[in-house]
Amino acid sequence: MKSYFITGTDTGVGKTAITAALAASLRKRNIDVGVMKPVASGVARKTGFRSSDVALLHEAAQVNDKEEMINPVFLPLSVSPFDAAKILNLKIDMKIVFERFHSLLKAHQMLLVEGIGGIMTPIARDFFVADMIKEMELETIIVTRATLGTLNHTIMTVKMCKEYGITVKGIIINYFDEKGSPAERNAPSTLHEITGLTILGTVPFVKDYQKLETMTSAVEKNVNLDLFIS
Ligand SMILES: Nc1ncnc2c1ncn2[C@@H]1O[C@H](COP(=O)(O)OP(=O)(O)O)[C@@H](O)[C@H]1O
Ligand SMILES: [Mg+2]
Repeated sequence: MKSYFITGTDTGVGKTAITAALAASLRKRNIDVGVMKPVASGVARKTGFRSSDVALLHEAAQVNDKEEMINPVFLPLSVSPFDAAKILNLKIDMKIVFERFHSLLKAHQMLLVEGIGGIMTPIARDFFVADMIKEMELETIIVTRATLGTLNHTIMTVKMCKEYGITVKGIIINYFDEKGSPAERNAPSTLHEITGLTILGTVPFVKDYQKLETMTSAVEKNVNLDLFIS
């Protein structure tokens, strides 16, 4: 079974919400899905997992893996990993990240890896999220918005993937409003027409989004899960 790296056109596009919902949906189909957030940054939570992304991913996949496996690098500052490491005077050990990634890959039938920010978010001065995906040799799924501006952001992300030789499985359009502006309504067909990529799903804005089950049923309804299981 294939594993995937979930990236996005930006921070806040819904990478965590979608990855968690995908993991929960796949679990319901009796697939042993693991989750990983190799590098996270942000304000540390006081209890449980330091990263709120990791807490949600863990809850969704119902795995027994320890925090240091799911999230080997946590930087307690809401900036890019590169900036956080610089400001906090820390060194990000990518060797450990890749070792733990390979262990999780072996331990589960399928692994969903959430990126950080977008494809060109710097982890080091000359090492970006794209470099991490390339080294993991995973196919990627791009999460994007449907609102005005998305064509520019999504096409740039797709082009960078091409430049790095990263295979894109498809695009998931989040916060989709079928009654929205013309830009929004056209986004799925235009993105498919220009990039040639599969639109794996269009997920609407979910009111009760803080509940994992609500987001999971929205993903089950609007994303073609069969395309992931191969
Ligand atoms: N389809 C949706 N409907 C409503 N809220 C959403 C949806 N997708 C994501 N969110 C919310 O938007 C915020 C940002 O999403 P998140 O998954 O954390 O983005 P990212 O991981 O890309 O930074 C979160 O509070 C999340 O719960
Ligand atoms: Mg996230």
